[in-house]
Amino acid sequence: MAVRSRAKQPLGDDRPGDANPSGPMADNVRPEPTRAELIRWDREIVWHAFTQMSEYEPLIIERAQGCTLIDIDGREYLDGTASVWCNVHGHRHPALDAAIREQLDRVAHVTSLGASNPTTIKLAKRLVDIAPPGLGHVFFSDSGATAVEVAIKMALQYWRQRPDPRPEKNTYLALGNAYHGDTLGSVSVGGVERFHAMFRPLLFDVLRAPAPDMYRLPPGVAREDALAHYLGEAERIIEENHQRLAAVVIEPLVQAAAGMLVHPTGYLRGLAECARRHDVLLIADEVAVGFGRTGAMFACEHEGVTPDLLCLGKGLTGGYLPVAATLATDKIWQAFLAPYTESKTFYHGHTYGGNPLGAAVALASLDVFEAEQTLANLKPKIARLAEHLARIAGHEHVGDVRQCGLLGAIELVRNRATAEPYPWDEKWGLRVCDAAREQGVLVRPLGNVLVVMPPLAVSLAELDQIMHAIEAGIVAVTEG
Ligand SMILES: Cc1ncc(COP(=O)(O)O)c(C=O)c1O
Repeated sequence: MAVRSRAKQPLGDDRPGDANPSGPMADNVRPEPTRAELIRWDREIVWHAFTQMSEYEPLIIERAQGCTLIDIDGREYLDGTASVWCNVHGHRHPALDAAIREQLDRVAHVTSLGASNPTTIKLAKRLVDIAPPGLGHVFFSDSGATAVEVAIKMALQYWRQRPDPRPEKNTYLALGNAYHGDTLGSVSVGGVERFHAMFRPLLFDVLRAPAPDMYRLPPGVAREDALAHYLGEAERIIEENHQRLAAVVIEPLVQAAAGMLVHPTGYLRGLAECARRHDVLLIADEVAVGFGRTGAMFACEHEGVTPDLLCLGKGLTGGYLPVAATLATDKIWQAFLAPYTESKTFYHGHTYGGNPLGAAVALASLDVFEAEQTLANLKPKIARLAEHLARIAGHEHVGDVRQCGLLGAIELVRNRATAEPYPWDEKWGLRVCDAAREQGVLVRPLGNVLVVMPPLAVSLAELDQIMHAIEAGIVAVTEG
């Protein structure tokens, strides 16, 4: 029998008599949990991602509006992480909300296995229209990790099935400290020691080029020589191994989870040209940087690069629903076309890939980019972020600040002169974020790196508030 939910009421504390009856419910109505129950269940039942559950302090967001998140106690927080780098136009945007409601009146889900629906088709066409030229085909999945997983598998299968097959091309070049998601293929091309070392027995080997880290340059390499140095390292590996390389996998311009490492200008283009020269595919993972984050719709645009495979997720739906996409060139697509009996089909799929509710909100998000001139309006925000970062860079324990578009990072160090890091287990980043939270701003660190990733819709005043709260947190925690 269906269980109805009671009309929403303010949450009470766990006062005696406020607890829910645990016995059979006479009228079959399930009462709303109390505040204390929610907190207890969240601690004891929900297993949170990337969270040590023995220390977890619940933060339960019940509502949101624009760039503000509101918890179950009515406390408001500015969303300085864009709900982990995915929200674009703010929460509860009327056009995005309406698009989902309208799609709900038609159909909520249609399988993409041998079937389609108009909304998802329109989204595919729209993505092809805005993507770097040459990416004419779209494979939908449901997360950034799966978008990368799809690209890895497509690259391998391409080399086996193209008219002049090269099955020996079955390995990948990825960057040190790369992060491409948490499925095993994505983890294999990933290189963040703390996240990935545990799973090594399950992973395939890849070749690794050093992450172009402009803050911690190798001994003897000057800043002005960094591009030549890092590109040279990657080029050498490609030159020596191209016979067995299926693809190079890269987070274009910024290695996000590595600590927002901003690559030197020209690195992406240089790598793309080298890969092309040696007949190695380029997989660009724009899951974190796509959809306006860098100031252009796609990061690859900054360096005039069209990858062979482009991975999109996060901001694709404005941060609303889990839809991801892997875009492919016609060269790749053609290698999969053959009579059924030749088994050249791409045997890969996800039940919810291309979900029409997600596609509807993704289309609405792209409409909002146009209607609200989201990219043009970013310019003053990017400039304001730069001003804040320049000021914050002066603090005693700030070793480096980095920026690419509306993405900022502040690296805390024990010693500025030597760039000696704080030990990761002392949680300096987390402590600063906790202090910012006291000021009504939610940010999440990557170790000692404070990440600034508000929704693109953030106002200048909100951006100021976020940056002042972070700065106050830095002062209180590292200079107090
Ligand atoms: C560059 C990059 N690729 C892939 C992913 C994985 O995306 P998802 O968490 O949606 O699987 C992320 C997530 O942060 C990312 O930053």
